[in-house]
Amino acid sequence: MSNAHPTTIPAELGDAFRDAFGREPSGVWSAPGRVNLIGEHTDYNRGLCLPVAIPRRTWVAAARREDRRMRILSRQVPGERTIALDGLLEGNRGGWAAYAVGVLWALDQAGHEVRGLDVVVDGRVPLGSGLSSSAALECAVAVAAVDLFALEGLDGDDGRRRLAEVCVRAENDVAGAPTGGMDQSAALLARADEALLLDFDGDRPPVHVPFDLAAHDLALLVMNTRAEHSLDDGQYGNRRGECLAAVAELGLGSLRELRPPDLERVLPRLSSEVLRRRVRHVVTEVDRVTRTVAALESDGFAALTALFDASHASMRDDFEISCAELDTAVDTARARGALAARMTGGGFGGSAIAIVRTDLLDEVSEAVATAFSDCGLREPELFPVTADGSARQER
Ligand code: GLA
Repeated sequence: MSNAHPTTIPAELGDAFRDAFGREPSGVWSAPGRVNLIGEHTDYNRGLCLPVAIPRRTWVAAARREDRRMRILSRQVPGERTIALDGLLEGNRGGWAAYAVGVLWALDQAGHEVRGLDVVVDGRVPLGSGLSSSAALECAVAVAAVDLFALEGLDGDDGRRRLAEVCVRAENDVAGAPTGGMDQSAALLARADEALLLDFDGDRPPVHVPFDLAAHDLALLVMNTRAEHSLDDGQYGNRRGECLAAVAELGLGSLRELRPPDLERVLPRLSSEVLRRRVRHVVTEVDRVTRTVAALESDGFAALTALFDASHASMRDDFEISCAELDTAVDTARARGALAARMTGGGFGGSAIAIVRTDLLDEVSEAVATAFSDCGLREPELFPVTADGSARQER
């Protein structure tokens, strides 16, 4: 079981495929994990978010089968699985492999002609870290399937947006995680050195925003707290349900219809303080995404400090999805001079990010590690990332 973090195809992937299946893979594909710069729990509220893909990727070696089954194994998880596409929703969905076989199922449901695949996975996006290991697996399998079955209409920016919808369906309907689509869009549409502005209101194309931190002597530090995070344990779905309840109480189509100045008028109409807090988070968070994009487009990095602070406070106090580990990481990074810091992703554990002057990177990292040890927390995993490219064929 290998857990290092290569940036090129893991050397043993081809051998693992040959050992398992007794033949050559037809190719190797990969898809990245992501961090979200800002805009959390906004995707399923038809809002905005701003992810970047990171150079921690999931690789798959794959070849077509002539039947409608997926045989799959992972170099990180023991055991091989064989899962039939037909009757998938009624039968064994394969545990973690549901994210992979779900993609074939969702492609089939969308009318694409697919058959089975043999797959070996080498996933180097840390699991349960809030860095979208599931979307990386889905999207690596998705681009492999597009190439291996010569599927049409799923290439280019528009095709990739359709492919992201297929992957979301796999995650929602087969894996059972009621997530919103940011992660799959990031894995399929992101570009190196750019952040991806996603607008989930209607059918708006993504906008690529400059994000070359190194040119400004800045770095993006990922702080994986190792506090276990999961998207199918009910807490994420609970927040999504609360947002829907608020939308129903207010008689809206979505929370996107509200702007921060509307809150004073609208919040008193909600039936509980909890719903008021949830709505305030979403509405102010969407506004912060717009401001963050404006700051990045004008090289106004100084503005990120207050925007990230407000975003983290909103998630901690209003959306209530932070935890001691995330707060410790963010507070320590900021106290040690990080320009900006906030938790990222779904919350309830997982990772935080900090934008740090390159010359302070070691100092901030050491301070966070020390703070975790002083608080008796598990040792965090700290690593700088650059904005990477989307899912692709590697060989
Ligand atoms: C997870 C989900 C996304 C999004 C984020 C929170 O990553 O998969 O759809 O909702 O949480 O912003």
